[in-house]
Amino acid sequence: MRLSHCHNFHDFQDLARRRLPAPIYNYIAGGADDEVTLRRNAASFEAVDLVPNVLRGVADVDLSTTIMGQEIDLPVYLSPTALQRLFHHQGERATAAAAERFGTMFGVSSLGTVSMEELAKKHSNPQVYQFYFHKDRALNSAMMARAKESGIKVMMLTVDSITGGNRERDLRTGFSIPFRLTPAALAQFVMKPAWGINYVTHEKFSLPQLDAHIDMKGDTLTIGRYFTEMLDPSMTWDDVAAMVAEWNGPFCLKGVMSVEDARRAADIGCTGIVLSNHGGRQLDGSRTGFDQLDEIVQAVGDRMDVMMDGGVTRGTHVLKALALGAKAVGLGRYYLFPLAAAGQPGIERALGQMKAELVRGMRLMGCTRIDQLTPDMLRLRQG
Ligand code: LAC
Repeated sequence: MRLSHCHNFHDFQDLARRRLPAPIYNYIAGGADDEVTLRRNAASFEAVDLVPNVLRGVADVDLSTTIMGQEIDLPVYLSPTALQRLFHHQGERATAAAAERFGTMFGVSSLGTVSMEELAKKHSNPQVYQFYFHKDRALNSAMMARAKESGIKVMMLTVDSITGGNRERDLRTGFSIPFRLTPAALAQFVMKPAWGINYVTHEKFSLPQLDAHIDMKGDTLTIGRYFTEMLDPSMTWDDVAAMVAEWNGPFCLKGVMSVEDARRAADIGCTGIVLSNHGGRQLDGSRTGFDQLDEIVQAVGDRMDVMMDGGVTRGTHVLKALALGAKAVGLGRYYLFPLAAAGQPGIERALGQMKAELVRGMRLMGCTRIDQLTPDMLRLRQG
């Protein structure tokens, strides 16, 4: 199987599975507990049907939109995700460059493996910086100062990861960063020599957003330990209000799910929220972002930009979310599997397919602009 054989998300996932050592593949693919929410994310879009209009003159389709003051050419953006150079040696460099080619926004994670400064310098497309609320308050302020200094416009605080989700696949495979090459893990890596050669012949693994603050030498960090030991579970709305004021620019909360929280986010001056269950990786049994979209857009859609992510694998999924009032939709595994499968050309191929599906879907829906997608074009599927 090759890149030219990848025609959808599932093909890229298959190719990534073949290329990656099993602990890394499972880290990307897996969710929390029984992975109920992970599966529901993918299924949620099927609860709603599209009702197209015809004969509308749809020769020219414009997919551009504005989120949190940033103009983008597509109503999808690449959500911040951790550890990308583990998946492919190009890592965040490939993600940023592919996003730029498609004129859209990308996120840089505080657990990213390329520095936000490098990416901000190299690329002119909008960039969000994703961060967590650490126990070490100086670290929180330092991160915001670094982001401001590098010219990043939008801050995105993840609020659904105040403690580590129970990722049983990672427990089973022993996934940790950097890798501890136990005999079992070594066997997995030996089975994927191409990945191993790439990994050891490229720039050494590092977490440049955090390396001044955590000591990676000699010890390994699991994602669960990072969340549980370094993040501050006592974080409250007052703490975030102070950060929003300190940032004094577009500020977004990722992982808001209730109407009450959405209202509070608007009250403290957030510019946007992302309805998200962290790709099913945190609270298993949680609702999906798509399921919550309607009531939250109705409650706060006139006060800030509402976005969603989780389980998006098709252009029509995006159109359904936009019709319910989402300003844009975040992609995670949708670009991570292509990254793992083939680096930048992989992500570009996947984004090209998404764009083609969006244009085709808009035409078949009878729409030429995003704002023509409205809730009356959707019907809940009964039974
Ligand atoms: C995860 C974090 C790092 O889901 O976002 O693994």
